[in-house]
Amino acid sequence: MTGDLSPIDKAKYAAARRAADMVQDGMRVGLGTGSTAAWMVRRLGERVQDEGLRIKGVPTSTRTAQLARELGIEVVSLDQAGWLDLTIDGADEFDGDLNLIKGGGGAHLQEKIVATASDQMIVIADAGKEVETLGAFPLPVEVIPFGWQTTRTLIQEALDTMDVLGTSATLRMNGEAPFVTDEGNHILDLRLQRIGNPRQTALVLNQVPGVVENGLFIDICDKVVIGHGDGRVELRDINDGTFELDQLVDGGENLFSDLAD
Ligand code: 5RP
Repeated sequence: MTGDLSPIDKAKYAAARRAADMVQDGMRVGLGTGSTAAWMVRRLGERVQDEGLRIKGVPTSTRTAQLARELGIEVVSLDQAGWLDLTIDGADEFDGDLNLIKGGGGAHLQEKIVATASDQMIVIADAGKEVETLGAFPLPVEVIPFGWQTTRTLIQEALDTMDVLGTSATLRMNGEAPFVTDEGNHILDLRLQRIGNPRQTALVLNQVPGVVENGLFIDICDKVVIGHGDGRVELRDINDGTFELDQLVDGGENLFSDLAD
C-alpha cells in the first residue's frame, strides 16, 4: 500500500498519473520502460477498464509489453502502428533543454526508436532527475556482443577527444553473466561525470563500430512532467516555453490513499 511508498515513488506516481491523463481516446501511444513508466502503464490500464479508453500501445521492452497486456491495453508493434501520437517514458537525467540520459533499465534502443517515431515525447520523472549538466548518471551504450572489449577500447579513445571528465566503461552485469538487452546485445555504462557537449558525444559514440545506440536523447523530448512526493506536478514544454504547476487530487481524497503496489 502507499503507506509503504517512498517520497520518490510517490513523486514518480504523481508524474506518471498526470501524463497518463493527457492520453486521449484513439491515440497510438509509445509505452516507456522503468518504474515511473510502469506507473503510467498501470494508470492507462485503469482508464481502459474504467472509462473505456481505446488506445493502441507500442511497448519499448518485453517487460512493458507484458504489463500492458496484463492490464488489458491493446498492444501493437511499432511497424503495425506506423507512427505514434505520443510516447511517455521515464529518464535517468534531464537538463534544461530536455536532453536526456536514458537506459538505466537497459531499454534505450527501443525507447529511442519509439520516441523518435512519435509526434511528441513526454518524460515523466521525480524532481531528483533534473541536472544542470548531464553525466553524473552513467551513460548506457548498447554494443553488440562480438568484440565488445575492442568496442570499449574504441569508445574510450573517442572519449579522449570529448568534453567529459571520465572515460571508465564497465560491462553491465546480471548476476554472474553480462546483461542481455531485448535485442540480444550488451551494455557498457560510461562514467563520464560531466558531458559538456551531449550532442557531439551522442554523434561520436554512434560512429564507433560495434555501438548500436547510446542513451543520450537529444532534441527528442518535448515536455517533462516532474512529480513531487506531496502530489505536486510541474509541466514544462520546451517548444512553447510554458510552465504549469498542478496539485493532483483524487476526488478530494489523498492521491495516494488507494494505491496498491
Ligand atoms: C529504461 C529507462 C528508464 O526510463 C530510466 O532508467 C528511468 O527509470 P525509473 O523510472 O525506474 O527511474 O531509460 O531504459
